Amino acid sequence: MRSTPPANWELLEAEAERLLPQMVFEYYAGGAGDEVTLRDNRAAFARVKLRPRMLCGVEEPALATTALGQHLAMPVAVAPMAYQRLAHPDGELATASACGALGVPMTLSTMATASVEEVASVATGPLWFQLYVWRDRGATRALVERAAAAGASALVITVDAPRLGTRRRDVENGFALPAGVRLGNLEGLLGADAAPPSIDDGSQLAAHFAVLNDLQLTWRDLEWFRSLSPLPIVLKGVLTAEDARLAAEHGVDAIVVSNHGGRQLDGVPATLDVLPEVAEAAGGRLEVWMDGGVRSGTDVVRALALGARLVLLGRPVLWGLAAGGEQGVASVLDRLRVEIEEALLLCGCPSVHDVTRAHVVRGRAGTSG
Ligand SMILES: Cc1cc2nc3c(=O)[nH]c(=O)nc-3n(C[C@H](O)[C@H](O)[C@H](O)COP(=O)(O)O)c2cc1C
Repeated sequence: MRSTPPANWELLEAEAERLLPQMVFEYYAGGAGDEVTLRDNRAAFARVKLRPRMLCGVEEPALATTALGQHLAMPVAVAPMAYQRLAHPDGELATASACGALGVPMTLSTMATASVEEVASVATGPLWFQLYVWRDRGATRALVERAAAAGASALVITVDAPRLGTRRRDVENGFALPAGVRLGNLEGLLGADAAPPSIDDGSQLAAHFAVLNDLQLTWRDLEWFRSLSPLPIVLKGVLTAEDARLAAEHGVDAIVVSNHGGRQLDGVPATLDVLPEVAEAAGGRLEVWMDGGVRSGTDVVRALALGARLVLLGRPVLWGLAAGGEQGVASVLDRLRVEIEEALLLCGCPSVHDVTRAHVVRGRAGTSG
């Protein structure tokens, strides 16, 4: 990596595009369908303006917070993202080390290219485990038990991907894992299904999902998940007030307002747009987190103002990983930390907990909400 990292995420993304094979870059960058939701996730942030307060005497804003009772250096965690060894040979291990150094939780994908045990052995901060639920419930149970035994401190169940959204770029590129890349969490659990199937065309990831995934998952299964481990349960992929209320009724600890970074159902709203509705329905009964299009400190402040307790950061982490391994991820997280601090200071907020709905306005300036 260059000694000075690119000054903003767009330049960093351009650098990653230059460094990565096209098939990998497009798998990371792309979305489902016409990518309308992918674009709207970003556009939504531009529609929300900040309403800073003056003369608040804020010298050093406090960024620290908690999620699920766990200490975080800032209201940011790294989102689960599959296949990180395609970005850099150190893959998830580099991401985990950088997260630990910055006091940011890492969410490890089921589809990681290192096992939860390997990642836990280098993690010095909170490690959360993202679960895809397999038809083979015995294997699913074993995976959750492995994650808990390795020291994961939350189970993040992804609920928006019973089947993979059609990502046209992957189909066109015939996206497939290069030989030698292992899926560490699946080995030893799924027999022959642990390896992605050989296919002639289309996306290998989509084909693997079609073999493995349990499409019959319902709210009734939450009791079963709770019986598997003592880990707090987070549902990732909630987009409506109705589902937020159901999550609260089923004793879920947190929900992530997420559309999978525009990679699942194209045409759903930007997450920032539905965040207020979901937060209101949650009514403080569970924690509300969000992801999708967060790229700067002012984006984080907008999300906090509209009801999120923390945000998950996605693609910029992969761009940092591609450009500089552990150091690249650390510099992405550190820049975000500096930007959040500046945004809080200039908004007149002494801490992340002082950001309120009155700090943002939609559309025309002058009215809050
Ligand atoms: C390359 C890539 C792989 C992903 N893999 C997973 C995954 O394995 N499990 C999951 O729940 N979400 C996955 N996601 C979705 C992210 O967790 C997150 O919701 C999304 O990236 C947030 O949007 P952002 O990238 O705009 O910040 C993936 C996203 C990307 C870009």
